[in-house]
Amino acid sequence: MNTQPLDPKFAQSLVDIIAAELNKNVNIVDKKGIIIASLSKERIGQRHEASTIMLNSGQAHEFSVTEHDQQHFSGVRTGFNVPIWLESECVGLIGVTGNSEESASYARLAAHFVEAALNANLRQEKLVNALQEKQALHQHYIKKIINIQEEERRKISRELHDETSQALTSIIVGLRVLAETTPAKKAELLQMRDLAVNTLDAVHRLAVQLRPVVLDDLGLVSATQKYIEDYSKKYKIQVTAKIDPQLLRQRFSPELEINLYRILQEALTNIIKHAQATEVQVSLVKKTSVLSFTILDNGIGFHSQKVYKHRNHACLGLYGMKERIAGLDGDFSIHSTINHGTCLKIEVPINRKPLTL
Ligand SMILES: Nc1ncnc2c1ncn2[C@@H]1O[C@H](COP(=O)(O)OP(=O)(O)OP(=O)(O)O)[C@@H](O)[C@H]1O
Ligand SMILES: [Mg+2]
Repeated sequence: MNTQPLDPKFAQSLVDIIAAELNKNVNIVDKKGIIIASLSKERIGQRHEASTIMLNSGQAHEFSVTEHDQQHFSGVRTGFNVPIWLESECVGLIGVTGNSEESASYARLAAHFVEAALNANLRQEKLVNALQEKQALHQHYIKKIINIQEEERRKISRELHDETSQALTSIIVGLRVLAETTPAKKAELLQMRDLAVNTLDAVHRLAVQLRPVVLDDLGLVSATQKYIEDYSKKYKIQVTAKIDPQLLRQRFSPELEINLYRILQEALTNIIKHAQATEVQVSLVKKTSVLSFTILDNGIGFHSQKVYKHRNHACLGLYGMKERIAGLDGDFSIHSTINHGTCLKIEVPINRKPLTL
């Protein structure tokens, strides 16, 4: 059921076109019998009494207005009026003023034209709604996938930390004891022990990569500082962190924290992989209810529009960042200039209702 399919502005634009073509006065009344569009502007808003009576009867049909009717009904002029149908519902009437016989065929033609325009609008509206629904569903599933992935990473990380690391530690201690008590095999046992120590180290790094404890325990700001510090040491690249002092002790929703942290990881990985930069600047600033996160490098830059346009399915990093930010109702933009570097700008609302899936 269409509540108001005949928008007065749209109706007026149709009236203007039809009236100009027919060189006649044309008006449209809504389903309550009020004139919503007319070439005679003073008639707009008036009740067309003959239309009201006909529409109230519940049986829409075309009718002519005679000289006699013009004297007895308010708001009417001689002419011919034809119902406008949309999906089996009468949504109004279109009237062409003048000699009723001559006006009849014009009015019918005008009604067809209006119906065609309304049908086109309705089709477009349905397509837009379907597209919006699909986009909402897509976003919902992406969020779900991201959440499940994070939950799995957290589980594996905990398992590695609690089970695998403990077991390796016992092996290391055991090998040490065995080496001391078995002088004949000491060298081999110490070698095995060193191997176990290296494996423990690798397991620890993997667990941190999967889910940094510092993020859960101390929050985004501390985790960002720690990640930058390790990254800077590992890749020997200068990274400056500009962090708003009011954020130092602030915690955000787990959803926001993990998503921004993952973006930081991907952005800094991209810089190492692609940018050839010598300096990086990461900034986290709070502006009332928005958290602004910027990652800037002085590397070789790239054509970000091209990357988006010819989306290569092997390049998922930037796409993933965009999806993560969309899931937080935030804004994400890339500003990159060849030979001058790249800047990723992110803005996310802070006091958003937490995600419930
Ligand atoms: N900071 C940067 N400086 C220069 N080029 C960049 C930078 N970040 C991204 N790019 C370019 O954008 C492309 C897409 O990046 P994206 O992270 O989506 O994919 P990727 O890093 O190639 O692969 P992955 O899916 O493993 O992340 C890169 O291949 C690179 O050409
Ligand atoms: Mg990448």
